[in-house]
Amino acid sequence: MTGKIALTGIKPSGTPHIGNYLGMIRPALDLAQKFQALYFIADYHALTTVHDGKEMKRLTYDVAATWLALGLDPEKVIFYRQSDIPEVMELTWILSCYTSKGLLNRAHAYKAAVDDNLAIGVSPDEGINSGLYFYPVLMAADILLFNTNFVPVGLDQKQHIEIARDIAQAFNNNYGNILTIPEAAIREEVMTIPGLDGRKMSKSYDNVIPMFAPANKLRKSVMRIVTDSRTPEEPKDPDMDNIFSIYRHFAAEEDIQRVRQRYLQGGMAYSEIKVELFELLEQNFGPARARYDEYMQDWGYLDNVLQKGAEKARKMATPLLERIRVAVGTS
Ligand code: TRP
Repeated sequence: MTGKIALTGIKPSGTPHIGNYLGMIRPALDLAQKFQALYFIADYHALTTVHDGKEMKRLTYDVAATWLALGLDPEKVIFYRQSDIPEVMELTWILSCYTSKGLLNRAHAYKAAVDDNLAIGVSPDEGINSGLYFYPVLMAADILLFNTNFVPVGLDQKQHIEIARDIAQAFNNNYGNILTIPEAAIREEVMTIPGLDGRKMSKSYDNVIPMFAPANKLRKSVMRIVTDSRTPEEPKDPDMDNIFSIYRHFAAEEDIQRVRQRYLQGGMAYSEIKVELFELLEQNFGPARARYDEYMQDWGYLDNVLQKGAEKARKMATPLLERIRVAVGTS
């Protein structure tokens, strides 16, 4: 355990699936062994798109229940809800005064929304709320408020970390070295986990394997994984197969080798490896599913955990925010 800080935000945007698990949750839980981890539910970021309060609440508890069920230890990881930390909002405003507007104009998510508008011939900012435009500043505040050293994220968030660094540098140029310049810790492997149809596993493609679905549903999902039409006898290339691509992330090393050999030799039916994959997933997620179901019945408990996390986070944030206030002359 180093004294360094790893921080990341989880946007509550749907029940997590095994692509999220392999791409984000498992690596983040591993990282929490090495660093002081701060993991939070980025509900204010989600507010740029989720405009139904009940849905927001449910999504927030869903994320909390998922991470706790999968083994996040709230005694070790500081686990909180972004909106419980008012200091984030205060810092967002201060940082916005060190964020050139041009920087936000160039942010990918905003630019993509403008391009979509231009493509259909409406005015560039049609339907775009300022929250979406300001998203990167809020994210910079999330990160900079805690002297964060590493930000574990997927490749899609790389630009946001660069923007946070730019903002921190602009602030430090004016007031001295107050803010820690964070580094992105990019997980490249996120891209390679295929969904049921072989495209990247993603809710937007409707090709996900849900993590906590009941066993019969999980089984059905696995049976739907698309394969080529090779007969059981024919040799197969494990590296070109969607089932194996998922299997290898969960199986023990000797099983991976055994199955790989059987693919190459021929004699392994896709239906057979599907059953093995299903059993493996059931083993992996069955116990966590039971815990997840319990947590989802007990939002009071989840509130309690998140509140305690928020207290710890606020304690960490207060001294730095006070230094910032003194520097800018508001305290
Ligand atoms: N924007 C991130 C995403 O969509 C979520 C997020 C919000 C985040 N604040 C953060 C990630 C701070 C890392 C650090 O995934």
